[in-house]
Amino acid sequence: MQIQTMETGAIYEGDNLEIMSKFPDKSVDLIYADPPFYSGKPYEVIWEDAPEKRAFEDRWSGGIQHYVSWMEPRLTECRRILKDTGSMFLHCDTHANAYLRILMNKIFGGSRMINEIIWCYETGGRATKFYPSKHDTIFWYSKTKDYNFYYDQVAIPRDTSTMHEGIYTDENGKKYQRNIKNGKEYRYYLDKGTLPNDWWTDIQALNPSAKERLGYPTQKPVALLERIIKTASKKEDIILDPFCGCGTTLVASQKLHRKWIGIDISATACKLMQKRLKKDFSITAQLVRGEVDMKYIKKLAPFEFQNWVVVDKFSGTVSRTKSGDMGIDGTTAQVNGGYPIQVKQSEDIGRNVIDNFETAIRRMRKSKGYIVAYSFGKGAVEEVARVKNQEGLEIILRTAQELLDGKVE
Ligand SMILES: C[S@@+](CC[C@H](N)C(=O)[O-])C[C@H]1O[C@@H](n2cnc3c(N)ncnc32)[C@H](O)[C@@H]1O
Repeated sequence: MQIQTMETGAIYEGDNLEIMSKFPDKSVDLIYADPPFYSGKPYEVIWEDAPEKRAFEDRWSGGIQHYVSWMEPRLTECRRILKDTGSMFLHCDTHANAYLRILMNKIFGGSRMINEIIWCYETGGRATKFYPSKHDTIFWYSKTKDYNFYYDQVAIPRDTSTMHEGIYTDENGKKYQRNIKNGKEYRYYLDKGTLPNDWWTDIQALNPSAKERLGYPTQKPVALLERIIKTASKKEDIILDPFCGCGTTLVASQKLHRKWIGIDISATACKLMQKRLKKDFSITAQLVRGEVDMKYIKKLAPFEFQNWVVVDKFSGTVSRTKSGDMGIDGTTAQVNGGYPIQVKQSEDIGRNVIDNFETAIRRMRKSKGYIVAYSFGKGAVEEVARVKNQEGLEIILRTAQELLDGKVE
């Protein structure tokens, strides 16, 4: 579907750069972004209890500069669509936070950094040769100096039970403490509560047995998002998460009666979010897909490409394992013959791939199968013709472009 407008209560599947570019200026109150980190390692994701392991691409082959130039247009779009009273919270860890802070200063202006929030937690492993790294950084930037901040929503009630001295009562009977500076009195009313510092130790990361845990490797706790959302938005405000993962921001927004928009490039993550919102709130979130063309397809992570081909296009089943060593990525639906499908994210597939596939489909006792790739070489096409004529095996070669054009079986 072509994205024309910005809808709330919707999950957008696609590249956030392309999707945000369709959103109007000054339309969002708060953005929380938790982009893939510059960690230099792939995550292994185990989706819920399913035994399938999926690679979560978090690698930047071009190094940190590549990452920074990838982030820059996305953060620029974030600033454009924020209202003048709006705020952005950018969640980073130590791998990229120095670079992202400089980038945010460039885009928002250094004076727009309101806080560098340090979120401390105790979960995860313990280092033995250096201090265990147990915090993330969340940069809070506002679009202008007239940003919204909701003190009362985030203040922590004071424990007045042990306060006996230095308490005053004003003309209305309200109790306060005071500070006198340069002859001027500053009053701190006890019923107003006090703000947490810019380092947060009272929100734990999700431990392996946490109830809200969904198996998503970088899932953040709902409580963290609740505090962020309460900091700079009120009921009915619009919250956007352009790297939405398993939808923690959407869940926290829904709980707090905000309007929300989620974006994620992973079809699998979008489906998981839909399921989560259904389970927690019985709502069916609208799923809006960004433009799906070859540019989009070529950017998909391997397991996303596999899902797109096998599930979306063939309505088949993805292989849990690679069927031994046979390299089979999925099968068409049983009603359609349960034929093997092999998926290759490359151009100019050669004859050797066809040879291996022939062996695999024979072992599966099938007479037909599909190979999907970006393009096929002459050797592959000739070998397919040969096995059909001489051995009665039907191997169908489909390019990703053909699948996009609706030519599948
Ligand atoms: C660190 S995770 C977010 C986790 C999330 N905060 C949560 O609590 O579940 C980053 C997410 O960004 C998504 N992503 C990566 N590149 C993207 C892009 N260009 N557009 C939209 N989403 C993207 C990934 O699919 C991944 O789900």
